[in-house]
Amino acid sequence: MPDKYAVIGNPVAHSKSPAIHAEFARLTGQDISYVPLHAELDAFERVVQSFRDSGGRGMNVTLPFKHRAYALARERTPRAEDARAVNTLLLDSDNIGGDNTDGAGLVRDIMENLGCALRGCRILLLGAGGASHGVCGPLLDEAPASLVIANRTLEKAVALREQFSSAKGAAELSALGYDALAGRQFDVVINATSAGLTGAMPPLPDALFAPGALAYDMVYGRATPFLDFAGSHGARVADGLGMLVEQAAESFFVWRGVRPETQPVIALLRQSA
Ligand code: ATR
Repeated sequence: MPDKYAVIGNPVAHSKSPAIHAEFARLTGQDISYVPLHAELDAFERVVQSFRDSGGRGMNVTLPFKHRAYALARERTPRAEDARAVNTLLLDSDNIGGDNTDGAGLVRDIMENLGCALRGCRILLLGAGGASHGVCGPLLDEAPASLVIANRTLEKAVALREQFSSAKGAAELSALGYDALAGRQFDVVINATSAGLTGAMPPLPDALFAPGALAYDMVYGRATPFLDFAGSHGARVADGLGMLVEQAAESFFVWRGVRPETQPVIALLRQSA
């Protein structure tokens, strides 16, 4: 019998995770099954428990359950604690472990797939919601020169800065409103807002991108106003498909101790998009 894994969400039918993990299993010769599991909003914990009771070994957790998974996990990794959210559950008969691979996935995509070194870079992170929480720690671990968190609601950016100000590295860490970005330039600009989902983008100054800058949108599978703006202002652009595959690869590694190749899977998803 293959070891059982699943992705749990609401909605979950659109998830690419089953296809990604099936490909990882094929590439690494691992014998696993991986299915999508829909949970009603009041049933997340029950669905996790019953999957575990039926022998399930691990789950990916997607919207809107990452905070509930954090609360449910009895043991959490430091990166899950930093993110205050869990996207990867490790299940066995007497424990539920929680990890978060989102930030590692982003960093790996930027550094390995896009070939952009983060050490010494000026990074701008747009947004201070759940997506930003997940990636702040891993970005700081790469020792950028500075990390600026900009958000529409300034207090949320300030709270995120406070969470990381003493904990990580020597990077200059600051929190700004969008109007304070005028006159500043960045080497890497990451859009972690949900604005693109409604065809909007944060108000950004024209001269934001340093020469050769990378603009990265965590959203994938659609053109976003942010990437259009960045492209027309000379930045190199990337969507979040690589992050999606890399966070999945990190989960696979956590569960199986084997790191799958990601390039062929990214190429496959691009082809079928
Ligand atoms: P997620 O988990 O996807 O990060 P979230 O926690 O609701 O979702 O956070 C959404 C982020 O996108 C927030 O930073 C939000 O800004 P506010 O904190 O000011 O609400 C940002 N956001 C959403 N729509 C936006 C828009 N049209 N312009 C700018 N920022 C936007």
